[in-house]
Amino acid sequence: MKSYKKCTTATLMALLIQSTMTFIPLLFGFACLGNMVIIYHGVVILSVSVCLCPNILLGAYRFMTLAFLIHIVTDVFNKFKDGEGNFKASLAIDVSGLLSLYEAAHLRIHGEEILDEAIAFTTTHLESMVSSISPHLLEKVTFSLNRPIRKNLPRLETRHYVSLYPKEDFHNATLLKLAALDFNVLQALHQQEVSNITRWWKNLDFPRKLPYARDRVVELYFWILGEYFEPQYSHARELATKIMTMVSAIDDTYDAHGTYEELKLFTQEIKRWDISAIDVLPDYMKFLYQAILYIYSDIEEHTTKEGRSYCVHYAKEAMEELVQAYFTEASWLHDAYTPTFEEYMSVAAVSATYFVIITFSFFGMGKIATKEVFDWVCNKPNIIKASSVIGRLMNDMVSHNFE
Ligand SMILES: *[C@@H]1O[C@H](CO)[C@@H](O)[C@H](O)[C@H]1NC(C)=O
Ligand SMILES: *[C@@H]1O[C@H](CO)[C@@H](O)[C@H](O)[C@H]1NC(C)=O
Repeated sequence: MKSYKKCTTATLMALLIQSTMTFIPLLFGFACLGNMVIIYHGVVILSVSVCLCPNILLGAYRFMTLAFLIHIVTDVFNKFKDGEGNFKASLAIDVSGLLSLYEAAHLRIHGEEILDEAIAFTTTHLESMVSSISPHLLEKVTFSLNRPIRKNLPRLETRHYVSLYPKEDFHNATLLKLAALDFNVLQALHQQEVSNITRWWKNLDFPRKLPYARDRVVELYFWILGEYFEPQYSHARELATKIMTMVSAIDDTYDAHGTYEELKLFTQEIKRWDISAIDVLPDYMKFLYQAILYIYSDIEEHTTKEGRSYCVHYAKEAMEELVQAYFTEASWLHDAYTPTFEEYMSVAAVSATYFVIITFSFFGMGKIATKEVFDWVCNKPNIIKASSVIGRLMNDMVSHNFE
């Protein structure tokens, strides 16, 4: 089933999910924003220190937060312009200033033309400077031009900055030590998580029982790590990664292994969520079905303990919708049917798995993930829909070369 195979890189997926997830806390009012400063006409009208975290990227981060609020305070950026409405030529000499403006401008939203201009202006000038700046600045500029902070994963950004920071003239050795320690302690936790999940995967005996399924445990863990890296989400990462390994195995079953009749059966039976349903399935599907039920009982047990058993309903709904989308694609191939673009997108946005990843990611997040949050996700607000469409199209572009 070549034409619908979803090849992708872990980074690409994780990034897109992360962009979506970054907005979610903001919508529900539990953002941890570092220093929040609102400036109007050059006057600080509000300055709140929400939290101090050694992972934050000091100066640029503060600037970015400001840019985030820019639709309230658009005037701020006009300060960078001359009488003619162009960005001041004097700005182009200050590499660090340009870099900050470049990073901040990436937080633009639609219609913020001044920030579109700022990106063009800073990119052009930064690119023209790379041959004439110090090695330290060059490293910073090249890294940012390749991927601005807004579009990078926090852990990769932090790792990079910990190496770069000691080369700053006014760096603080104590802060650096704290940041490096913090990074290593957290990384040790992440390593233990991957190791535990890998052990679980091997004990399930997937590689032997479903030899056609790709072994993507570490890659999938990395996606989820892109959504949240914080220590308190350790269990959330474990749950989400485990379900995603199932999603990946189901995907390979529909794409590469199952016959049309078998897939039809599996699609029906998955909606029953009943172990007695496995009798009618072929052996390899029995095994997969059972593994899925185990994880779902894990979710049920975990969330019921927290008084959040409503999660199970959403978990099932998301899985059913995904499997149905996989099946629709399998039917198209079976019937040699070419869908219209609209038909394709309505199904392919689901099979791109963004909806399920986002839903699954909330299971382990505790009280934050209320019933209202799940309803919000289920109703597919534009931010989630847009992420799925972007993800789907980027996937298709990447995999087009292979297929
Ligand atoms: C480094 O930062 C810490 C924490 O902000 C501060 O207490 C300390 O005084 C700073 N050290 C220097 C040398 O500036
Ligand atoms: C890994 O598994 C061990 C043994 O079950 C457990 O004690 C430990 O807490 C787990 N670590 C993580 C980070 O999940």
